[in-house]
Amino acid sequence: MADYAFFHKKFLPLSEAKIGILTHALHYGTACFEGIRGNWDREQNRFCLFRIQDHYKRMLQGCRILKMNLQYSVDELCRLTGELVERSGYREDVYIRPLAYKSSEAVGVRLHNLEDDFFVIVTTLPPYLDTEKGVRCCTSSWRRVDDTMIPPRGKICGIYVNSALAKTEAWENGFDEAILLTQNGHVSEGSGENIFLVLGGKLITPPSSDDILLGITRDTVIKLAKNELGIDTLERQVDRSELYLAEECFFTGTAANIAPILEIDHRPVGTGKIGTITAKLQKLYATVILGRNPKYTEWYYLVSP
Ligand SMILES: Cc1ncc(COP(=O)(O)O)c(C=O)c1O
Repeated sequence: MADYAFFHKKFLPLSEAKIGILTHALHYGTACFEGIRGNWDREQNRFCLFRIQDHYKRMLQGCRILKMNLQYSVDELCRLTGELVERSGYREDVYIRPLAYKSSEAVGVRLHNLEDDFFVIVTTLPPYLDTEKGVRCCTSSWRRVDDTMIPPRGKICGIYVNSALAKTEAWENGFDEAILLTQNGHVSEGSGENIFLVLGGKLITPPSSDDILLGITRDTVIKLAKNELGIDTLERQVDRSELYLAEECFFTGTAANIAPILEIDHRPVGTGKIGTITAKLQKLYATVILGRNPKYTEWYYLVSP
């Protein structure tokens, strides 16, 4: 088993996939990517590439924003990713990282008159946040970039400097993760996760107009909460002080899964322990991503190596 790439239309060991140092995307962040989980189901001997179609649809939206034309359909992207996972030989959870980028080796900031290319890598991912113990957060001194700067609805590489500034500031100050506010001071999201609050027994999450990435895990949680727990989610603006009053709070993301937030700005969230709604959603999510629930077959892309 090994990290593998689909690169220049070939399947290769990752160590053989190289790009030139003048590549446009490296200098100017002109690329967009996805993070997809391939969940290994030991009992069924297969991977569930969870909501891979939705990830590739979002990547193609990012390509439109960046004026890239990939020449692959969502179905083709899913097929070649499935083959890549098979070739890697892994029999454990994998992390899939597709990236579409301005591949011309050219100097000059622009989006036009450049070649595009695409690769996808399969690797493994250590736990991103501690979903069992929960995480401690701070409100970042960095504000979330807004749609008039770099559109956050695309996973555009350049935008992640904003996330990296916030994440490292949080980490250097002894926190696990940062919560970014919008330019107007409303709660937006974590550096690589969406955020939910439980207030008065209701689920609340910031709306797309508050400069969030429209997360696929966010959507999964909204649907699981409604279908399985009978809880509606309110998508509305959230004030910073509401974070301090919430009964429960958690992050969602492909890398982070559902990560309980136990402390924000040195204040305990609710009782300071993992809340009951958060715990129920974690349990539901952990089983649904394995691809066994017939209610959610449209979310599953199964690969049996
Ligand atoms: C900034 C940001 N917000 C939210 C998310 C969560 O999105 P998803 O659930 O689609 O992984 C991510 C992760 O991709 C992210 O980078």
